[in-house]
Amino acid sequence: MLLILVVGLCTSLVSSFTVSGLSSGGFFSTQFHVAFSSSVTGAAIIAGGPYYCSQGSQTNAEIACMSSPALLNLNACINEAQKNAAAGSIDSLTNLAKASVYIFSGSRDTVVNPGVVKDTVQFYQKFVTSGTIVSNFTVPAEHSWVTNSYKNKCAYLGSPYMNNCNFDTSGAFLNQFYPNLNPKTVFNPNNLLTFDQSTYGDISSASMSKTGYVYVPTGCKSTTCNIHIAFHGCQQSAETVGKDFVSYTGLNDWAESNNIVVIYPQLTTEMLKNPEGCWDFWGYTGNNFALKTGKQMSIVYSMSQKVPGVEWF
Ligand SMILES: *[C@@H]1O[C@H](CO)[C@@H](O)[C@H](O)[C@H]1NC(C)=O
Repeated sequence: MLLILVVGLCTSLVSSFTVSGLSSGGFFSTQFHVAFSSSVTGAAIIAGGPYYCSQGSQTNAEIACMSSPALLNLNACINEAQKNAAAGSIDSLTNLAKASVYIFSGSRDTVVNPGVVKDTVQFYQKFVTSGTIVSNFTVPAEHSWVTNSYKNKCAYLGSPYMNNCNFDTSGAFLNQFYPNLNPKTVFNPNNLLTFDQSTYGDISSASMSKTGYVYVPTGCKSTTCNIHIAFHGCQQSAETVGKDFVSYTGLNDWAESNNIVVIYPQLTTEMLKNPEGCWDFWGYTGNNFALKTGKQMSIVYSMSQKVPGVEWF
């Protein structure tokens, strides 16, 4: 009886999931995917750079990885990934061969130069062989999560960094990751829940807030579902933009009709080293920021292994 119970618990664990993110969340999406490639089967990177773009330097993060991609050392990024994989501090890069990757940059992005994002394509081209890399550099969007319904004009730069360009980015990558999706519906606000991020690790040293968000479709409360994790950009956590990002990227609309749980981990603006609430892709939480042991990396991974807001873990 006990054995059956244990086996039952094990088989209910989600073995794979997908991620997405904008800007610092886009860099983090790449970083998280590369580090946990045995678990992450799909990654959407919106205005984000290659793994270890910053080489552990805030100056590089702000210049080579944002305004001046001519200074970006792509070979150093590839070498760092290979070195970390050889040391076992990230998963084997052979997992990336069959990955599904979606890479987006608005053609009018003045914050993260599209040239940086083109290096993300090149980074993945080195490792993805049988999988899929789709990129889109043609939507005339400023730096934002592009939707077909919300909120600012396509060429606008500003909070909440969500622009209506008549293009459903979330739908584009979810349909790539999960074939044969049902049409999207309108999400149910009652299914957008909060959870206590401190149950997953030391949130204060990770610059994470107490409250995280999770969208649990009606069909997922007690039944195992697919998992997607979405990383907000700088100045885009719930502390700064309220529920805009966790409600209106379009992810919840697709999730509701297709039984995908969407986890929205949240950073805080309270840490002095990280006043804009940016995901760590240069090292303010420690030198291991890009490894599986990185503070934010390990806390978010725990969320995937004990999904908040559902009864099936
Ligand atoms: C890229 O964006 C354009 C809109 O400008 C859209 O029509 C096209 O389908 C997109 N391609 C992909 C692969 O997402």
